[in-house]
Amino acid sequence: MHGLLLNQFRQFVVEAAGREAWLELTQVANTGTDAYQISGTYPDADLAALVAAAARRQGQPEAVLLEAFGRFLVPTLLRVYGSLLDPAWRTLDVIARTEETVHRAVRLRDPTASPPVLGARREGADVVLIDYASPRRLCPVAEGIARGLAEHFGERVEVTQPACMLRGDPRCAIRVRTLLSA
Ligand code: HEM
Repeated sequence: MHGLLLNQFRQFVVEAAGREAWLELTQVANTGTDAYQISGTYPDADLAALVAAAARRQGQPEAVLLEAFGRFLVPTLLRVYGSLLDPAWRTLDVIARTEETVHRAVRLRDPTASPPVLGARREGADVVLIDYASPRRLCPVAEGIARGLAEHFGERVEVTQPACMLRGDPRCAIRVRTLLSA
């Protein structure tokens, strides 16, 4: 897993609960490190163990925590890779083009990185349907990224999952619909 995700998960925990809480989580999760470099590559199991420990500590479902983490990630994703996006794009355009632009570029820049292969299909002007089947089963992160992008662009979205690997389906279908502003 790309160091950006673990580095940002540390930041997410430190901002919400402080450095002591982060150190405690790395011990409970037995990661063997408390410092994750953006340029590094780390075992997927580290994020899974840290998320499980954080969810237990906060008494929150893992999915709720992961969704908040996805939203938290967006400003950093845009700061690091924003130059790959067309400035005219809004939430649904970014989601629909992520696979052919950013995730593709991430793989080319860093052969050890493995962002999920996202299928995305526009279903009319206000809906995009994402097909997600990463073995990491981080669909709540995808939901959070969609919501975080909408916050960034000042749009309102409704995100639903007609199918979900966490509910036993073979793949996730994540439907993002933009809503008219009030
Ligand atoms: C500005 C746009 C985006 C950038 C720069 C970006 C970049 C990245 C990077 C660097 C990773 C880490 C890959 C690795 O661990 O090796 C990643 C993972 C991920 N991305 Fe994106 N991404 C973007 C948009 C999106 C969108 C729109 C979605 C879905 C709505 C998405 C879903 C995910 C998920 C769920 C992961 C976690 C890894 C997995 O599920 O296998 N990303 N992304």
